[in-house]
Amino acid sequence: MPPLPPSPHPALAQLAAHLGALVPRAELACEPLPEVPEVRLWLFRDLHPDEPLDDASVNTLMEAPPYWSLCWASGQVLARYILDHPEQVRGQVVLDFGAGSGVVAVAAARAGAARVFACDEDPWSQKASAVNAAENGVAVETLASLDDAPVAPDLIVAADILYDRDNLPLLDEIAARSAVLLADSRIPDLDPDGYTRFARAEATTWPDPGEDTQFNHVRLFHCGLLNPKRVRRVQKHRNRW
Ligand SMILES: C[S@@+](CC[C@H](N)C(=O)[O-])C[C@H]1O[C@@H](n2cnc3c(N)ncnc32)[C@H](O)[C@@H]1O
Repeated sequence: MPPLPPSPHPALAQLAAHLGALVPRAELACEPLPEVPEVRLWLFRDLHPDEPLDDASVNTLMEAPPYWSLCWASGQVLARYILDHPEQVRGQVVLDFGAGSGVVAVAAARAGAARVFACDEDPWSQKASAVNAAENGVAVETLASLDDAPVAPDLIVAADILYDRDNLPLLDEIAARSAVLLADSRIPDLDPDGYTRFARAEATTWPDPGEDTQFNHVRLFHCGLLNPKRVRRVQKHRNRW
């Protein structure tokens, strides 16, 4: 008898129902990411891309955007960077801050991190990270806040947390806790104190919401990588991206 297919994660149906309540007819689909085909995520599938959303759906989306249902450009780039440079996370406790779908957490776990947390204040994101970790066969623990981490992370990874400029103070907050790898596509002239820009890459938020192409330019920063050998390894890759 052929083996039974693995049963879906119990939170998948809850996520699908939540998204369907926000956007009528919307569905979740699981596909490999264009820039990170090693990772498959359950993401938004718009079945009627040519039909504009009604006002009620637009308002609901504006009030509680399901960030977790897209993989943001920076999430793709940081996941790609980590999978190409597993030595940055191998054996470490890594916390993906503003995890959304959990894309960077999944990449860190695949790259050999010892323990991985996906931290997001949105409870639906925590469910999405759990579903996507299970889909990729890796262990990721979910958290609502940095203060809930049971151990201090060695490295915080964060992708596209600055979609709102009010989030800028978060950069100091995470840098006060551990070394940071940050990816950003939202603020072109971003130059935060203590952070060093070391690479750039192109990617599209996925599925492509058709945003202005300026948001396809992703910049990578590190902060507080105190081990000089590790800093040199990060900087060596400047021209590969
Ligand atoms: C634009 S999404 C990016 C998701 C993912 N990192 C990616 O690149 O696809 C930003 C996420 O940050 C989360 N977020 C924003 N402020 C936060 C905070 N103070 N604490 C935890 N999560 C936060 C949001 O809920 C959202 O899921």
